[in-house]
Amino acid sequence: MVEMVISFRKLVRDFPSTTYATFSIYRYPAKFIPQIIAYILKNYCKPNMAVFDPFAGYGTVGIVSRLFGCDYELWDLNPMLKVIHDTAVMRPIYVDVNKLIQELKSSNEIFIPKWSNLKYWHPEEFLDILTKVWGYYHSLEDNELKKLLVIPLLKVTRYFSYSDEKIHKLYKSKYAKKKVEDLLKKDWKTLFFTMLFNEIRELLKKIEDYNSLRPKPVKYKIKAGIDTLNTKLDQDVDVLITSPPYLQAQEYIRSTKLELFWLGYSENYIRQLSKKEIPYVNVRKIEVYSKTYEEFRSKIKDDHLLKLYDNYFFAILRAFTSLGENVKSYMFIFVGPAKVRGMPVPIDQIIVEHLKEFGWKHEATLIDRIVSHSMFKVNVNPASGLKENRMETEHLVILRRE
Ligand SMILES: C[S@@+](CC[C@H](N)C(=O)[O-])C[C@H]1O[C@@H](n2cnc3c(N)ncnc32)[C@H](O)[C@@H]1O
Repeated sequence: MVEMVISFRKLVRDFPSTTYATFSIYRYPAKFIPQIIAYILKNYCKPNMAVFDPFAGYGTVGIVSRLFGCDYELWDLNPMLKVIHDTAVMRPIYVDVNKLIQELKSSNEIFIPKWSNLKYWHPEEFLDILTKVWGYYHSLEDNELKKLLVIPLLKVTRYFSYSDEKIHKLYKSKYAKKKVEDLLKKDWKTLFFTMLFNEIRELLKKIEDYNSLRPKPVKYKIKAGIDTLNTKLDQDVDVLITSPPYLQAQEYIRSTKLELFWLGYSENYIRQLSKKEIPYVNVRKIEVYSKTYEEFRSKIKDDHLLKLYDNYFFAILRAFTSLGENVKSYMFIFVGPAKVRGMPVPIDQIIVEHLKEFGWKHEATLIDRIVSHSMFKVNVNPASGLKENRMETEHLVILRRE
């Protein structure tokens, strides 16, 4: 097996940082750094090739593909994919931000999310303003201004809530309660609109920075709110680049629930999405062609963990096997060496062993150390009080069609 330790941040100098431009306009758990995608596109792709990410999350694969003139298709269960992507690839627009804030303040439209827990997450005082600014947003036609406004609105809404915006999971922490308490003692209305103003200005700058990287006109398709396990590609693609969900249960939908409610999704719809998340969704058993999979499976005694382990591998291996049929040359799969109850599971090795049976040759695994992965910064999970298993490296598996 060819393994090489590298640093994508050091190797790829196309961007000044991992959070430059629109590569970081909103927090999303386990987000790719743009350097990884740039590395792959520079070394393995040519302009006009078609790139595909079936677990696209934030949409980094698409946002970087444009810069290299590659067409792309992105899928994710989370509707946030389209929201973030559409803003991140915007052309620069001129907006009189002062005037926009005045319009938001004087709008008479009201939007109330269909959320039974609304008052658990926002104090009543804030709801006055929140329902008004979102009323304005929802009354807009689908245009560039609406795309620009949505991200700052989501950020400010999350701040003016009992959620701990420093943590991905939707979680009411001691810090968050204190934050609201302190806000209520201040002139929070002025603060709300100042923050919104600053967020809009910052986003406009980020959009300009992205455009200074000269994105090319490309063809693209976004499917957000779909279940990858039940979706097929309509046409062949050249390469697949993705990072599948992690084995450690990371609830992506739950992390963005507050956002989804304000965007107008219903409680029932969000619940249905949650149920389709890997590794929670029940997946039909498949034959797993991997000794490593069996070896680690035999060490798990807990029934619940065993079910999660099986479900996880049935889901991702089934997805890669079947989607791989429409991939012409390469698959790049980025995974972390996850742990089950403290036991590290070499997901990358299991993927390689299984896919070898389906005509994929293992070309190399590139190993990078995690530096700016916000998901792993917290050592103790404040929701459970348990120590998080820190991942120290991430593995980029490169598979070539034989
Ligand atoms: C590790 S994240 C991908 C992050 C992405 N690379 C980025 O740059 O943001 C895995 C993604 O898989 C998605 N996911 C989980 N179950 C899914 C399913 N059944 N169908 C489609 N997407 C799913 C999650 O919503 C999450 O966005």
